[in-house]
Amino acid sequence: MRICESVAEMRKARVLMRQDRRVGLVPTMGALHEGHLSLVRAARAQCDSVVVSIFVNPLQFGPSEDLAKYPRPFERDRELLEREKVDILFTPSVDDMYPKNAVTYVTLEGMSEKLCGRSRPGHFRGVTTVVAKLFHIIEPELAFFGQKDAAQCAIIRRMVRDLNFPVEIVVGPIVREPDGLAMSSRNAYLSPQERKSALVLYRALGEVQKRFDQGERNTERLVETGKQVLSQEPGARVDYLETVDPDTLDPTSEIRSETLVAVAAFVGGTRLLDNILLSPK
Ligand code: PAJ
Repeated sequence: MRICESVAEMRKARVLMRQDRRVGLVPTMGALHEGHLSLVRAARAQCDSVVVSIFVNPLQFGPSEDLAKYPRPFERDRELLEREKVDILFTPSVDDMYPKNAVTYVTLEGMSEKLCGRSRPGHFRGVTTVVAKLFHIIEPELAFFGQKDAAQCAIIRRMVRDLNFPVEIVVGPIVREPDGLAMSSRNAYLSPQERKSALVLYRALGEVQKRFDQGERNTERLVETGKQVLSQEPGARVDYLETVDPDTLDPTSEIRSETLVAVAAFVGGTRLLDNILLSPK
């Protein structure tokens, strides 16, 4: 595995891959877990060359968020990627990615403010800006994202469509711990007690799924069901639980087509996400 620590090095390496028909990119912020690795394996199976980026993107963190304490276990990540037979690990510095006086951003008007964008102003602008830059630097034919961050997937699919990026977006399923908790680099912040409380997100979505399977199609009542479960866990504080169209992220009132049920909640100081897709037959 070759490690490219600068944009210039990465571009040079990309030129050497010109003969590859399918270059796959898996963008990450590191602290890798099985969720990330499932995307790397999908990329390995579908592509001639696989590039993984590790870049803790300051632009997508709010001023009072966890940028400074975000875990950066680089040696461990490198070994994991080596084992997955990744071709290139791209780890640029912040100064290289954001030259002084950079003033150009990618914003999806009306979409960047939805779901996580509401409680994390500027978050999705940071995500789309860095992903657009990664697409330009690496020029992948395919890029792999996780359904765990369903709103991020919708926003990136829309950006790719609106700005004609020649890249196919592949979305991988949510990888969970044996008890159902969605894997996340931020799970490392949880104390043993919080780790137990965190399961309430999965339980709430399970209850919503159950009511849906029993025939409930009214989203207000489905959301109420989920919130009821969440309110029973004193260790958790809901940020949002919403039913939205998975492509536009607009709220839905009745489930007539595939609907995303997305939840974000704080457990202690840690913000966790989970979601399910409800599909009426
Ligand atoms: P990060 O949180 O490191 O996640 C990198 C990729 O792994 C994302 O596409 C995310 O959806 C996916 N992922 C995380 N947990 C997962 C799980 N349990 N199952 C399946 N996939 C999972 O998301 C980001 O980084 C950043 O916003 C990024 C896209 C890299 C831009 O900075």
